[in-house]
Amino acid sequence: MIFYFTSTGNSLYVAKHLDDELVSIPQELNKANRHYKADKIGIVCPLFEFEMPELVKRFIRESEFETDYFYVVITYGCHHGGVAERTRDFLKSIGRDTNYINTIIMFDNAIIVFDMDQQRSIDPEKKVDEHIAQIKADIDAEKSFIQPAPKDETDFYMGYTHMVKEHGPMYSFPLYRVTDACIGCGTCTRVCPMGCVHLEDGKPVHDYTNCVNCMACIQACPTKALQFATVKEPNPNARYRNPNITLSEIIRANRQN
Ligand SMILES: Cc1cc2nc3c(=O)[nH]c(=O)nc-3n(C[C@H](O)[C@H](O)[C@H](O)COP(=O)(O)O)c2cc1C
Repeated sequence: MIFYFTSTGNSLYVAKHLDDELVSIPQELNKANRHYKADKIGIVCPLFEFEMPELVKRFIRESEFETDYFYVVITYGCHHGGVAERTRDFLKSIGRDTNYINTIIMFDNAIIVFDMDQQRSIDPEKKVDEHIAQIKADIDAEKSFIQPAPKDETDFYMGYTHMVKEHGPMYSFPLYRVTDACIGCGTCTRVCPMGCVHLEDGKPVHDYTNCVNCMACIQACPTKALQFATVKEPNPNARYRNPNITLSEIIRANRQN
């Protein structure tokens, strides 16, 4: 049994290779009294600013898991920043011992920082399928492992946290604006894991109260009509979805309405 969160399909792609029973975290969060029992229970999610996303932490914190083997796989794009050890410590702080935590480098969908077309050109070097196979073998063998945090990665993490402390976050709300290219298709309303987007007069309106800044809406817009409002994007004409995952799968994973 795997609980997953995805905004552009990478984590869903990994989850699909690791288990047949997949459960969407954003949808499960709507249920009260969450108690799960399985031989193995896994969490698969993206890395957000060197951490497990807050909504995933909340899901784990507020759920009960009855299992002999609890594991976490975090997908990321360029630097994991030693997240496995921090995740172990977070889980320990809420009383959950974890058997296995690993990361897997994939396409970097941080559209606010990177040109998606440029990322596409370096994607094959990441050898995703080989890494997934290795992680699957580990989990099948119920290996005990927490990925160590090498110094260069923790330095990177420290550098980033220092920068945010000095200069504030990289983005500010409102995050997005809607251009005339919008055709009112409502895709953005269906891929949002937090139900933050609705249509008014045929155009998307964001309520940022619960927004987790996953950027699923901007990435999925078929006409690229959603753009960052205050930050200059490296390439406003390039968007990403994992090539092995369909838009319908992202909608099925995240849809709230
Ligand atoms: C808000 C946000 C923050 C991110 N932060 C990091 C990061 O700190 N380090 C990194 O290597 N990748 C980062 N990424 C890239 C994603 O973790 C990576 O592309 C992941 O595989 C996306 O998974 P998904 O398609 O399942 O959402 C970030 C992406 C987003 C949208």
